[in-house]
Amino acid sequence: MRTTYQIIVDDKIVNCYENETLLASMRRNNVDEIINGCFGGGCGRCLIEVLEGSYKICRNMNKEYVKDEASNRLLACCITPCSDMKIAIMRNR
Ligand code: FES
Repeated sequence: MRTTYQIIVDDKIVNCYENETLLASMRRNNVDEIINGCFGGGCGRCLIEVLEGSYKICRNMNKEYVKDEASNRLLACCITPCSDMKIAIMRNR
């Protein structure tokens, strides 16, 4: 059985598999507020703020958008959950 976590994103709750990026789960769950981009950590369009929960970084993030990986502002295509989480979508257009 696959482990899933609940991700509260703004006013919605989505399920995210433990090895799925937050961006992929939001796309799979039709969260239209997140912006599609490169899915590779380069374009910065999927910038989020982590409000609660723990996560793993699964690919490098463009330092133009994420200056400090220890901060709570990260790219949703580059992190996978390790717990239930609460996040906010940043408006990075
Ligand atoms: S979609 Fe481009 S950095 Fe996440």
